Amino acid sequence: MLPTTATGVQIQYDKIMAGEDRKPQHIFLGITKLYEPLIQAIYHAETWMQNGVDAEMLQRQLSSVLALQVEGDVVELGCFKGLTSCLFRLVLDKSRTPHYRTELKTVHVYDTFEGMPKPSQADAHYFLDGEGVIIDIEGGMIGLIEESKENHRLHNLKEPVYHKGLFSDTLPDQLPDKICFALLDSDWYDSIMCSLEHVYPRMQPGAICAIDDYCVPLFPGAKAATDTFLADKPEVILGNPDACKHVFFIKGAM
Ligand SMILES: C[S@@+](CC[C@H](N)C(=O)[O-])C[C@H]1O[C@@H](n2cnc3c(N)ncnc32)[C@H](O)[C@@H]1O
Repeated sequence: MLPTTATGVQIQYDKIMAGEDRKPQHIFLGITKLYEPLIQAIYHAETWMQNGVDAEMLQRQLSSVLALQVEGDVVELGCFKGLTSCLFRLVLDKSRTPHYRTELKTVHVYDTFEGMPKPSQADAHYFLDGEGVIIDIEGGMIGLIEESKENHRLHNLKEPVYHKGLFSDTLPDQLPDKICFALLDSDWYDSIMCSLEHVYPRMQPGAICAIDDYCVPLFPGAKAATDTFLADKPEVILGNPDACKHVFFIKGAM
């Protein structure tokens, strides 16, 4: 049975650390043993929004910008209960790049922490009924700051910096000046577009921006916003839509 509570996650984590409860049907593509216990633990938690392959790919992408010593901090726009930010923190703390203190980098997370805002017409056909009334998700998917704090505490990880509010209010002046890695995971067209508009100029050369749900037809707004935003930019979309629900681009890579 899957754990449903924070305690359940801890028990799962402890079992995995002890070498029990491996799930042979879930294949990790050679992820380092260091990260596997956390990824396994969060993969089994109901508060986890990434699947195992996406989690592993995000870990690899962040590791690669660290190996290349890209300047700047890590940001997650749409953080929910903070388990993906736990993964980012772990990668930063455990990476060993000579003369490059990755553990000094900060993770910044942005969310209403009160659930999803309204979808727009670009997301509408899935979430509005025939009369334009919202039938799903607005106000749903609520992740609280307290839940994120608890997840970081369970995994003995330093907390991220929390930025509570709508992106349109927080992003203009609460993003770090330099970003080495960004995860945009907010589902709606307007949310992803707002994220791209503010994150892109702060991405340093070689920085990676991952856009979750680009490959998920249920969330057409994520793809539409990304394609529209990048249409006049040199960067191209990279990724493996057959395996992952996210795609990414590298600042300055054409
Ligand atoms: C799919 S969840 C994020 C999952 C998280 N990245 C993870 O891996 O666990 C989407 C989150 O985006 C947030 N969100 C969406 N649009 C937003 C906006 N315009 N401003 C602030 N938060 C937003 C929602 O509150 C929700 O918590």
